[in-house]
Amino acid sequence: MSQFLRTKSIDRLLAEAEEPEHRLKKTLGPWSLTALGIGAIIGTGVFVLTGTAAAGTVLTFHSILKASLLDVLLHGGHAIGVAGRPGAGPAIVLSFFLVAIACALAGLCYAELASMIPIAGSAYTYTYATLGEIVAWIIGWDLILEYAVSNMAVAVGFSAYIDSLLAGLGLKLPVTITAPVFNDSLERTGSYFNLPGFLIVMILTVILVRGIRESAGANSGMVAVKIVAILVFLVAAWRYIQPSNFRPFMPNGWQGVLTGGAIVFFTYIGFDSVSTAAEETKNPQHDVPFGIIASLIICTILYCSVAIVLTGIQNWRTLNNAAPVANALEAIHLTTAERWVTVGALMGMLSSLLVYQLGQARVWFAMSRDGLLPKVFSKVHQRFRTPHVSTWVAGLFVAIPAGFFDIGTLSELSNIGTLFAFVLVSLGVLVLRRKQPERRRGFRTPWVPVVPIASILCCLVLMASLPLETWLRFLVWLVIGLGIYLGYSRHHSEFACEPQAVPAVAARD
Ligand code: ALA
Repeated sequence: MSQFLRTKSIDRLLAEAEEPEHRLKKTLGPWSLTALGIGAIIGTGVFVLTGTAAAGTVLTFHSILKASLLDVLLHGGHAIGVAGRPGAGPAIVLSFFLVAIACALAGLCYAELASMIPIAGSAYTYTYATLGEIVAWIIGWDLILEYAVSNMAVAVGFSAYIDSLLAGLGLKLPVTITAPVFNDSLERTGSYFNLPGFLIVMILTVILVRGIRESAGANSGMVAVKIVAILVFLVAAWRYIQPSNFRPFMPNGWQGVLTGGAIVFFTYIGFDSVSTAAEETKNPQHDVPFGIIASLIICTILYCSVAIVLTGIQNWRTLNNAAPVANALEAIHLTTAERWVTVGALMGMLSSLLVYQLGQARVWFAMSRDGLLPKVFSKVHQRFRTPHVSTWVAGLFVAIPAGFFDIGTLSELSNIGTLFAFVLVSLGVLVLRRKQPERRRGFRTPWVPVVPIASILCCLVLMASLPLETWLRFLVWLVIGLGIYLGYSRHHSEFACEPQAVPAVAARD
């Protein structure tokens, strides 16, 4: 069989993870995994996108590339140029609920594979065991993009946030060290470096290198603060709900609800990163599925509640601004709650930075252990038992670009990258149920093949609703990745070194 299509046996993957020089420390339990999931899921999205998705956005005709593939296919370029994107209105709660169902379908598939193959590489490793080396490389490369680009954007956002918080306290930092060197049109801004953005990623990198227990502890603290912030918002604001704001409930019909869903999908991204910590979990067969599903359920309840209260206290048309939750609280003079929301958003940024850096480093680590990236990335720290080299590499890979570029416009790449991973994981469940029906599964996805197929379809619809521009950038990234695979990884892969022995092992799978 061609090396491109060779799969790696699950037994071999598990055995390699137990080799002393690659063994990570196993300390995580079900609740610390749930906290990691919530840490990654609740970032800044819910505080911003709930408003944008409820109010809708107005598209101009200046760039057809900004339109979604679905818009173009359904309406042609002209129609979307003048129509803009309809908001969901108060029905944004339905958008949140529907997207939660779509994510739950993918989450159930992740849970099965993570319980069978509790290895740090997550979707990359599952794909190596099911669809072969080349697809595994593509998804590993894609996961690095997802985690890295999202964190570059968050680091730049964090810096701007800190800058404005300090300015509010009368402490103005010089713009030459607080902004990226280039704006999103790649013009010079006059700044020399975005120091806060760089520093925060490096500080989190130090925590991640020090230990998984320390990292999970820091994350749990931040998660607690942001959940309290959301609860303060809900409790303080619900008395100000005016039923008239809910009428009409669906001002733009189902089209508005679906468009809103495509926007708020971002707010759910992150539960998949739980599976990257599988190798550091005491009882992964039970705890990883628990962490994925529990974090999704908790976030869905919080998100739907925020959606109801936000559209209840303010008319949905007024919510299209950069800080809709904070502004809505200001409008009803709830300044204490507003401060909590500000702190919650800040914690959201920090914890999602932490968990994505954790996930990104583990993908580098797993790909290196298989020989697809240089071996040095799979070194484990003797004392801390963390993948310290890949953690530093992942840190610099995010912190340096965050110092130079205003990466915010690229953040939709993390949507497409995530959805692509969901599709392959759902496909992986179907493949393994066929190829290895007897293998023990700590968790079984219910109603197979309906759930994985429904998951794939939902993800494809959401992918089609992303801008063409995002698709083009994604394809460019994949082409670069294929170049690296053909130039380096193919020759260094374990399969390249042992061409005869492996197919026999793989064939048993
Ligand atoms: N789900 C994360 C957020 O909302 C990415 O910020």
